[in-house]
Amino acid sequence: MKFITTKTYEEMSNKAADIIAAQIIVKPNCVLGLATGSSPVGTYKRLIEDNKNGKIDFSTVTSVNLDEYVGLDVSNDQSYRYFMNDNLFNHVNIDKSKTFVPNGCAEDLKAEGENYDNMIKALGGIDLQLLGIGLDGHIGFNEPDAYFTGPTHEVVLDESTIKANARFFASEDEVPKTAITMGMMSIMQAKKIVLVANGAAKKEIVEKSFFGPIDPQVPASILQLHPDVTVIYSEN
Ligand code: F6R
Repeated sequence: MKFITTKTYEEMSNKAADIIAAQIIVKPNCVLGLATGSSPVGTYKRLIEDNKNGKIDFSTVTSVNLDEYVGLDVSNDQSYRYFMNDNLFNHVNIDKSKTFVPNGCAEDLKAEGENYDNMIKALGGIDLQLLGIGLDGHIGFNEPDAYFTGPTHEVVLDESTIKANARFFASEDEVPKTAITMGMMSIMQAKKIVLVANGAAKKEIVEKSFFGPIDPQVPASILQLHPDVTVIYSEN
């Protein structure tokens, strides 16, 4: 594992964007695994600039996102599909038909999960997965549990996740209680993983995840088993 610390959010974002840009340059038809939340916003901003400046071309890139709230569709500005359109896809030359987010409005979420994993397999797997980390150590929405879960699946969000994500909603009550998330299988089968985390509040969980024991109660700790992980942490 490579562990990089930076002084600022901007520096963290630039380092993550450098790695993603390199991935696109060396494999223009790569499959990027993408995340939502505050942590990757700066990375996406830099990638948008790179695209506008002609340094990277998204036209043959495919993307697969980690997760989606159950019950929110693209018209809802808190859905993760909306977030991705707004923070990246609408501003770069990616073919939207090649951008995938799990469907949180699917009638059969189990079938949706199976189809999502099969689609990722059919794409040849993920070349580079970008991750954030929750205050409880979740990656995607894989919450602390007695076991790590492999397939894409429906999850009940932890109280701490609902509280943390309430900042994006009008009130805590509006945060969906469940989500669909890629499981550890597709995440861990990605060829490369880049995790971005920032802020003093994340320091403890970052230390626990990467320097503590591998424990399903600290979901991100599974990344210690992956051969190519870069963690970029900024205290600010
Ligand atoms: C989002 C996701 C989550 C977030 C995590 C951190 O797609 O998969 O694991 O990365 O909740 O969120 P922020 O970056 O908002 O602190």
